[in-house]
Amino acid sequence: MMHPVSERRPAITDRTKLAPMETLKKDPAFMADAAGTAPKTYRITFESGDSFDCREGEKVLAAMERARLRKIQVGCRGGGCGACRVQILQGDCDRLRMGKNHVDDAEAAAGFALSCRITPTSDMVLRNAVKTPVPRQKCA
Ligand code: FES
Repeated sequence: MMHPVSERRPAITDRTKLAPMETLKKDPAFMADAAGTAPKTYRITFESGDSFDCREGEKVLAAMERARLRKIQVGCRGGGCGACRVQILQGDCDRLRMGKNHVDDAEAAAGFALSCRITPTSDMVLRNAVKTPVPRQKCA
């Protein structure tokens, strides 16, 4: 027997709103929420006093964007452009590989890093340290 149209489930027409499960499994915050545990967060503060929370395992730049702050310039989000360069004044973090043209060994030892390539392991104090500002793209 066929159900009337009004009783049928609505069709999912906008697939862009559904994140693939494989993508969600890579997000530590989602997995922590799914397990019913609150994700650990670290406080990221700038010299100016502005601050935001960064979840454990989350990139600093991504957390800043989630907090809707504009303290660090956003570019490629993958370590390629150097737009998100910061100096770590206090705190510790895990670092992914960074191009030597953006952060060489001496600069890394002095605390410079690309914020899209670091995840905090403690509260941090940062200073914006971009070498050359990346021009903003104009929308057509
Ligand atoms: S946003 Fe391009 S290197 Fe971080």
